[in-house]
Amino acid sequence: MKNEKAFIFDLDGVIVDTAKYHYLAWKNLANSLGFDFTEEQNEQLKGVSRVKSLEILLGVGKVNLSEEKKEALLKEKNKKYLAYVNTMTSAEILPGVNKLLQFLEANKIKFALGSASKNAPLILEKVGLLKRFYAIVDGNDVTKAKPDPEVFLIGAKKLNTAPENCIVVEDAIAGIQAANSAKMTSIGIGDKTVLSEADYVFESMNEITSDFLQNLIN
Ligand code: BG6
Ligand code: MG
Repeated sequence: MKNEKAFIFDLDGVIVDTAKYHYLAWKNLANSLGFDFTEEQNEQLKGVSRVKSLEILLGVGKVNLSEEKKEALLKEKNKKYLAYVNTMTSAEILPGVNKLLQFLEANKIKFALGSASKNAPLILEKVGLLKRFYAIVDGNDVTKAKPDPEVFLIGAKKLNTAPENCIVVEDAIAGIQAANSAKMTSIGIGDKTVLSEADYVFESMNEITSDFLQNLIN
């Protein structure tokens, strides 16, 4: 049904706090290249693709490398990241997520994933959420990264509804911009000043009330 409301969730920083594992893996890589990488610098990598993240990191360290070496580093980084991911359990689902998914299921509202991560299905599987998503759109499905709306437009198609009916939940500015340019309703999770372009902002998913959701889907 083309007029049905549906939700599209970002993964990292919305469903699970994998940002800390991305950071540890990037920092380890920076250190092995002979420079430090702070948590503050890491903010620039949120919502950004793996390849672009490496470019930013190498920029911080002022390091120039061949394409071949960069390929090898991307593989190494992902290997380190996956070592953390493989320890993940449902205990790492962020507060408020289960409550929100249960509300959507009870109200027969479909939801999909719209993530830049190529590891998204594995992470959802590890935390036991994979089967609950109606559709998955991840870093393997897109050619253009957020803030391009491609990831969410593919999501709307898979949900078989118009973009205007979709509600996106995101923690990154690039993701909010992607949702807005897809003409979707955007909900930011995080800092109000950082996510000021979002239609609504909550500090955590835990703050989203049933009344708010009810109004949104009516
Ligand atoms: C995004 C994260 O969701 O996915 C970024 O916010 C990450 O930090 C990107 O670089 C790509 O993830 P992956 O798992 O494919 O390396
Ligand atoms: Mg995110």
